Amino acid sequence: MRQILTGGDIFRKDGFLRRDLVIENGIVAGIGVGDSNGGNLIDCWGHSILPGLVDVHVHLREPGFSFKETIASGTAAAAAGGVTAVCSMPNLNPAPDDLEHLEVQLKAIQKDARVRVVPFGCITRGQKGTGELAALEAMAPYVAGFSDDGRGVQEDALMEQAMRLAKRLDRPIVAHCEDNRLLRPGGCIHDGRYAAAHGLVGISSKSEWRQVERDLKLAAKTGCRYHVCHVSTKESVALIRQAKRAGVAVSCETAPHYLLLCEDDLADEGRFKMNPPLRTAADRDALLEGLCDGTIDVIATDHAPHTALEKSRGLAGSLMGVVGLETAFPVLYTKLVLGGVLSLASLVEKMSLAPRRLFRLPGGLDVGASADLAVFDLGKEYMVDPETFSSMGRATPFAGWRVRGESRMTMVKGEVVWQRNTQER
Ligand code: DOR
Repeated sequence: MRQILTGGDIFRKDGFLRRDLVIENGIVAGIGVGDSNGGNLIDCWGHSILPGLVDVHVHLREPGFSFKETIASGTAAAAAGGVTAVCSMPNLNPAPDDLEHLEVQLKAIQKDARVRVVPFGCITRGQKGTGELAALEAMAPYVAGFSDDGRGVQEDALMEQAMRLAKRLDRPIVAHCEDNRLLRPGGCIHDGRYAAAHGLVGISSKSEWRQVERDLKLAAKTGCRYHVCHVSTKESVALIRQAKRAGVAVSCETAPHYLLLCEDDLADEGRFKMNPPLRTAADRDALLEGLCDGTIDVIATDHAPHTALEKSRGLAGSLMGVVGLETAFPVLYTKLVLGGVLSLASLVEKMSLAPRRLFRLPGGLDVGASADLAVFDLGKEYMVDPETFSSMGRATPFAGWRVRGESRMTMVKGEVVWQRNTQER
């Protein structure tokens, strides 16, 4: 089958090219002009064609928590956000800590996923962050890496053991860094000005960066590929920058909300509550600096849907987590690219090229690649309205924001997996 995307502006690292993009049997076959014979034409006039975005940190909630999100609804949200591949986190029931448990998720993915989904296997048995290792070796062929996201691995020796095995299996350790010894019961937001003013229990920066510090030493010692999840503190950025300079095989991600918001933006609403929490303006600025100087490799959403009820109890009582798949590109494009902080090429690097490279996922716009791509109308301005989301989760700190950059169509393996209904908005 031959398809031709006509008239679109095709993303290249050094700018856009207005050409026809030819796809044959799901593979990018060529980029040219006047090659529009004998194929299925898809009109992309006035729109930009980007390599499909890759989100390496999403919670799809199935199996176990399908009342919050399913593989079907979560991957529909991904497709609607221009995301063609996601890595799914293992805080599920059953948690993927051995092959049998992982297979429950793999079957659901095979049945219902609209975009590529590559799961993470647990680091520890039962995803407890303590005790014994999960069945890393048996799961390795099917997973993007190993993570206990939602929890830090508490014991140094256990993390070292995990890293040694992951290194042998050639898979990264993808770490949620949180030292439980430094947490206080009821911690709900950053341990800063807002918490002090409102009598709320804080979550210290140290609970994150102390574990980053420990893990970087272990990564240097073991030679394991080590990826830090949702970096939120200036101290973590500095530690990772230093480790990279020293040659440690470390990569890291942060999420749109840590780059665009801080504790000064808090209101007593569940949609501002996530773990790690929004930190200070100085942390936010350090993250932006780290993004620009290459310390932060990837932007991932930590898409973490909960029900409306679970998010209705303010900062103290709501569950932690916000959705992000359908807002990540437009909020970052609007604030960072149009705001003059980052080039569009750099944003595409952080949201598509780097995560695809680091986690060895297919797709893109190069000739010979699987045609996984996203078509955006970069000029279109609209308001973020959670009621229009494909995700079952609606809690986002970006509700009501006016943004530019509307997704129009998403393709995976040359197949249109999502298209915006022109009646919408
Ligand atoms: O805010 C969060 N939500 N942080 C996590 O680490 C876990 C996640 C979830 O699963 O809801």
